[in-house]
Amino acid sequence: MKSTSFAALALVGMVAAYPGEVLRKRALSERDACPRTLTSGQFEFPHYITQISKSEPDKSFGPQYNGVFTPNDIASIFSFDVPASRADANCTLEFIFPAQSQLQTSSFEYEGGGSFFFTGYNPGSCPGEQTTWNNQPAPGPFPPFPAVHMEPGNAYTIDVGPCFVGAGTCVAGMTYTNDTNFWFFQDQGDLTGPDCPIGIYTAYEYGLPAGQEP
Ligand SMILES: *[C@@H]1O[C@H](CO)[C@@H](O)[C@H](O)[C@H]1NC(C)=O
Ligand SMILES: *[C@@H]1O[C@H](CO)[C@@H](O)[C@H](O)[C@H]1NC(C)=O
Repeated sequence: MKSTSFAALALVGMVAAYPGEVLRKRALSERDACPRTLTSGQFEFPHYITQISKSEPDKSFGPQYNGVFTPNDIASIFSFDVPASRADANCTLEFIFPAQSQLQTSSFEYEGGGSFFFTGYNPGSCPGEQTTWNNQPAPGPFPPFPAVHMEPGNAYTIDVGPCFVGAGTCVAGMTYTNDTNFWFFQDQGDLTGPDCPIGIYTAYEYGLPAGQEP
């Protein structure tokens, strides 16, 4: 295993108020607590995950449990349902990427340069069984995010924005890479125990200035 391999995964901002900014990064050693914890009732697990393949542009992957990425080919789509009742909150799009030693029920593999890119779809345009590379949800109003680099042992806040943008419907985005083989099992772990969450989440925040450390 190459100690220099940077992970990557990008993720991102379905909420998209400030495209391109990685707002927070918290690094911890493997023996520390989870890079980030999730508060019960205050986050969304992706409602729908699927892949698309540039080399098989008409293939439908259907519902999946994993994020999967290959260089310039397989990309992953993550979609969240944001209830209308959250219109008054700020939505934080976060990728939580623990070290393998911090995971009990999940795992990941990655190898490559670690460059990932995100494109947000239009709120309300949701992926489903019909989704293929050639039949993606409708493009969103923002340009793709710049490349994001990620590595195990960190949590990345990709975007913070007002939840009303997608409240009452779905908000989805596509993440792809030009240089990395990566997969992970999206898993929230044990919210009260030592098994860390891994993957992409939308967390609700009330009364916190967006973009500042709590
Ligand atoms: C991937 O994209 C990044 C960011 O644009 C770039 O710096 C890098 O050279 C690209 N890598 C490959 C293998 O194309
Ligand atoms: C959301 O973020 C904005 C910008 O920082 C802040 O002014 C507002 O108070 C936040 N709202 C909530 C509900 O946290």
